[in-house]
Amino acid sequence: MALDRKTPNDLNAFWMPFTANRQFKQNPRMFVGAKDMHYTTADGRQVLDGTAGLWCCNAGHCRPKITEAIQKQAAELDYAPAFQMGHPIAFELANRILDIAPESMAHVFYTNSGSESVETALKLAIAYHRARGDGARTRLIGRERGYHGVNFGGISVGGIVTNRKVFGPLVPGVDHLPHTHLPEENRYSRGLPEHGAHLADELERIVALHGAETIAAVIVEPVAGSTGVLLPPKGYLQKLRAITKKHGILLIFDEVITGFGRTGAAFAAEKYGVMPDMITTAKGLTNGVIPMGAVLTSAEVHDAFMNGPEHMIELFHGYTYSGNPIASAAGIATLETYKEEGLFERAAELAPYWEDALHSLKGVRHVIDIRNEGLIGAVELEPIAGEPTKRAFSAFLKAYEKGILIRTTGDIIAMSPPLIISKEQIDELVGTLKDVLEEIE
Ligand SMILES: Cc1ncc(COP(=O)(O)O)c(C=O)c1O
Repeated sequence: MALDRKTPNDLNAFWMPFTANRQFKQNPRMFVGAKDMHYTTADGRQVLDGTAGLWCCNAGHCRPKITEAIQKQAAELDYAPAFQMGHPIAFELANRILDIAPESMAHVFYTNSGSESVETALKLAIAYHRARGDGARTRLIGRERGYHGVNFGGISVGGIVTNRKVFGPLVPGVDHLPHTHLPEENRYSRGLPEHGAHLADELERIVALHGAETIAAVIVEPVAGSTGVLLPPKGYLQKLRAITKKHGILLIFDEVITGFGRTGAAFAAEKYGVMPDMITTAKGLTNGVIPMGAVLTSAEVHDAFMNGPEHMIELFHGYTYSGNPIASAAGIATLETYKEEGLFERAAELAPYWEDALHSLKGVRHVIDIRNEGLIGAVELEPIAGEPTKRAFSAFLKAYEKGILIRTTGDIIAMSPPLIISKEQIDELVGTLKDVLEEIE
């Protein structure tokens, strides 16, 4: 007989991702609704979303255009295979993405998440060189403290120790650039920090060690988000581009969080004027509503595969849900919402106000650094001696109690509100955070 699994309040079955499961299940925090800038909790409270969900709901929550597009598409064409078959709106969305993408991007490969976008880009990099007869280029270079999702390629090039150390030997042939966080030199920087462009020169050292002819690609987040908002020093990304180009190494920007307006431009590549060979995206592509990711590639990367007999598959890679119709509909409606409401421009306009509001926390109890860029912010706290992460986690819990959603990583509080946030809501978010910091131990 089937078990009756409908026991209310039994939280045991769901093994939650990136969560302190035992703590959560003793004292659950449940959202049951959302609209625009707010979540509604199970006990009926409104919580101001300071994180756009997980850096994904850039247009805010339950936006009618996106909801309607999904409903309509689900009733019209729910699923169609993307292997050897097509459906129009996946093509339409790809064109719309390229309309706002940096000029050098010419093709779109669909995935279902940021992690899958990263795996796709890494595989493409290795296969690209091989397709050109340069098959010894298999090494991948990531960066310390980088976050590129949770699959094996992503954690191999990633640089967050907790995400790597218990999962065995990982993908071979990977090396790492140093991270760009120089607190002594750059503390309380506003926008991109002044010091640290020289850290890109470390790539020359890695090239000298391994030989350029063995290196396929370098992958970095233009702004490292999940590790606690580490910003690229002025000139750093430009240097990385120059060195990769000089040595025939592909440059991949992981724009899973910086894509779709977060820095005040459609993509960070555009904002910083640095053109990579590939861009990985997800999250804001569908406003977080339906899982979808995409890798944008240059024509050069794509065209290297377009040879051999025409009836042959050119790339043996793809996902059952690549370009899923409902996700594509959500993507189109999302991009239209961004455009109609001028949300990328709005993020750029609000950025100075956001910066001033955040930096007003300088001098508040526990605060040892503040960083910002676009509508991204981080407030770093002095860790409790011998108990790293505990103070920030207490801040997170207290903040939730007081009606704001923030994110923490280590002892860093990261914020990335929907781009529809108002100045009053910025004041509320920062003001409440100040109260939180003054109350916690
Ligand atoms: C830069 C970056 N890459 C990849 C990912 C992984 O995305 P997902 O969780 O959709 O797999 C994230 C998620 O936060 C991210 O910030």
